[in-house]
Amino acid sequence: MDSVIMEAKILVFIILQLELFLFSNLVLGAHSNGGSWELLKKSIGISSMHIQLLQNERIITFDRTDAGPSNLTLPKGRKCPKISGRRDCYVHAVELDMMNNLNVRPLTVLSDTWCSSGSLLPDGKLVQSGGYGNGEKVVRTLEPCPTCDWKEDYKGLISPRWYASNQVLPGGNIIVVGGRFQFSYEFIPKSSKPEDHRLYTLPFLKETRYSSQIPNNLYPFTHLSTDGNLFIFANNRGILLDYVKNKVVKTYPTMPGEVARNYPSTGSSVLLPLDLSTKTTPEAEVFICGGTHPESFNKAKAGIFLEATKTCGRLRITAANPKWEMEEMPISRVLGDMIMLPTGDVLIINGAANGSAGWWYARVPVYNPVIYRPAEAATANRFEVLKAATIPRLYHSTAHLLSDGRVLVAGSNPNHNYNFTVPFPTELSVEAFSPPYLTSGKPRPSISSVKPGMNLAYKQKFSVEFQVKVRQLGKFYLTMVAPSFTTHSFSMNQRLLLLAVNRVRRMSSGSYAVEGDAPASAAVAPPGYYQLFVVYEGVPSVGKWVHIK
Ligand SMILES: *[C@@H]1O[C@H](CO)[C@@H](O)[C@H](O)[C@H]1NC(C)=O
Ligand SMILES: *[C@@H]1O[C@H](CO)[C@@H](O)[C@H](O)[C@H]1NC(C)=O
Ligand SMILES: *[C@@H]1O[C@H](CO)[C@@H](O)[C@H](O)[C@H]1NC(C)=O
Repeated sequence: MDSVIMEAKILVFIILQLELFLFSNLVLGAHSNGGSWELLKKSIGISSMHIQLLQNERIITFDRTDAGPSNLTLPKGRKCPKISGRRDCYVHAVELDMMNNLNVRPLTVLSDTWCSSGSLLPDGKLVQSGGYGNGEKVVRTLEPCPTCDWKEDYKGLISPRWYASNQVLPGGNIIVVGGRFQFSYEFIPKSSKPEDHRLYTLPFLKETRYSSQIPNNLYPFTHLSTDGNLFIFANNRGILLDYVKNKVVKTYPTMPGEVARNYPSTGSSVLLPLDLSTKTTPEAEVFICGGTHPESFNKAKAGIFLEATKTCGRLRITAANPKWEMEEMPISRVLGDMIMLPTGDVLIINGAANGSAGWWYARVPVYNPVIYRPAEAATANRFEVLKAATIPRLYHSTAHLLSDGRVLVAGSNPNHNYNFTVPFPTELSVEAFSPPYLTSGKPRPSISSVKPGMNLAYKQKFSVEFQVKVRQLGKFYLTMVAPSFTTHSFSMNQRLLLLAVNRVRRMSSGSYAVEGDAPASAAVAPPGYYQLFVVYEGVPSVGKWVHIK
């Protein structure tokens, strides 16, 4: 009897030890080999501060025109921007062709795009707003075409907007929220409608500043809720805004913890998958991770680099009585990007464990991405540490989901200008991170066609034909992802829809035809381009571009 108890005790002891071992390795990242990294290009000539994928598989990325020389000179005959009375004939914006080995095409931008924001219009045109100096009121547009270049309207905005956030609205127009010392919002592109020519005040942006010394709530997190109102979050508070009536329709509980989440305490935020499989107007849930103490920026100035937060909060913004559910990441992080993967999981990548945003103010790069699986019932199973990168990606770095399911990672320039002789030099390289679903060796589905075609209408039934090399069809679903404009750790307009699936049949060709429902409304899915994925047993296909209106 005693020896049985003894043995059981030893067993429990061994199991505990094993768990401790696994746990400590998880924290240290030693066993975290999920996914893989690939260097795509050592230099694209500029440091990627802002980034957007277009439906023609080209990436538009740019930094700022007042950074001094980049590593690429403008082709002969191009106009050079004039900064502080001096001509700057260096490239500050490029197009990367994802179908052609990241071929770099220099673009011409004359106004200063520093810390600006952007969105895609329903027709796929990139609209980009604000910036610094002569760029503060500029609205820039770029058509998705292989020879197109920026068009700049110096009177595109009513107010100067440096560090503002954008969101595409159900009407296909764009709301531009905040910016340094701008406690207001407005709409672009300006039409002849009177509402486009007025400024709407938003005291919330003034009330959510944490520190008196700096405008401590820049790049507010903006997410279009499924009821058509706009969720806005700054530092530790959120509101739901009826932007047409200029009325706050809901004030959310304060997020627990003494943490600021917006620039320069930069955390990040996503709208979790909108589940259309059972409801045409789904619940909306926001997930905010990382950030740091509100005084971190001021401390960093004094040479003290506070540890960033591990905390994240989930808030069901459509609930009658929304409550924050707090969770902890395995690693502390500030300046991290949150990228929605086609599966509906969240990748948290880039950033640092100490310090804040701002030049020279981050320390201890976090090399390991982590994945968060929001659908896991047990919170303990949601986070997983993934394979470490080798290149620090700190302030002014970017990330973007690619159609092939990888995540492009670029930029990092925590310096005043391009500087290659400092501990955290200006990064001109571009890498791709393959999430674990691409390295698992599991069968990958592939979409052969979408019928009746890529142009979908709201509520339309459509069919997706796909192949997957398995004997018997297992679990699968369809997702649609809106490509984001990413800068300063926030991916504007990022949105993932889990579509309703009616039936699936096996074709004589051996492939499968699944009938899906297009989203029902523009509040759920603003008009424009999306990447459509089939996710089979956790592995996504390559995305196919579809358009909805
Ligand atoms: C960029 O240019 C600088 C100065 O000419 C040079 O030292 C550096 O190696 C270049 N960087 C890359 C990645 O090409
Ligand atoms: C980062 O923060 C931790 C915890 O406060 C501290 O021990 C460490 O020294 C900090 N690192 C730097 C480089 O300041
Ligand atoms: C790079 O930064 C260091 C440290 O701030 C500075 O001394 C140096 O002059 C900078 N180099 C350039 C090219 O700006």
